[in-house]
Amino acid sequence: MSPILAPSILAADFGHLADQIARAERGGAGVVHVDVMDGHFVPNLTVGPPVVKAVRRATALPIDVHLMIESADRYVDAFVDAGASWVSVHVEALAHLQGTVAHLRKRGVRPGVALNPSTPLASLDEILPELDYVLVMSVNPGFGGQSFLGASLDKIRRLRAGIQQRGLTVQIEVDGGVDVGNAPSLVKAGAEILVAGSAVFGRGDPEAGARQLLEACR
Ligand code: DX5
Ligand code: ZN
Repeated sequence: MSPILAPSILAADFGHLADQIARAERGGAGVVHVDVMDGHFVPNLTVGPPVVKAVRRATALPIDVHLMIESADRYVDAFVDAGASWVSVHVEALAHLQGTVAHLRKRGVRPGVALNPSTPLASLDEILPELDYVLVMSVNPGFGGQSFLGASLDKIRRLRAGIQQRGLTVQIEVDGGVDVGNAPSLVKAGAEILVAGSAVFGRGDPEAGARQLLEACR
């Protein structure tokens, strides 16, 4: 099955954001991934609701907002109001994860939970049936352009097996260092959504970048 490609605008040219997104879309992108960082949960700052609003005006694709922030529960409504279609929050950053996930569903967006590389899959045992997707980080969050951590492959395999065993339909999204080299094995391991920043926007031709990634997975 061919994966959904979710280009991360973190690596895009923000001066020409609408055009960059349109080009990735022509290359086959199915979702636009927006990385939100607060300088606390991760050592970097990026964008907030106004940029999600601008992306909303630029494309009809679903917008996948990845919140790498503390106290995400205080900000989810602002991102939903700005036009987010999917919202993922980090298990490491929320004490009352279930409440936030239930709230997201009530607001009509697809709820997801993200896991850092060192966070065990067992931390999802209770929440898994309530999720639409799990975002497996394959780098430590904070920056684009890092190298893929190989152990993520087996983590995805084990997560896929667990989801199947429990008869759930939760999707797996992988984020960090995804490229034409590792994408096919990630899909084989069970990833259905591939986030890619540098591989799509980092080489000057987002349409070709997106197309090559998807072609590699055929
Ligand atoms: C990392 C972000 C990723 C990142 C992906 O903290 O969550 O979405 O921007 O970028 P690449 O594909 O360059 O690793
Ligand atoms: Zn991300």
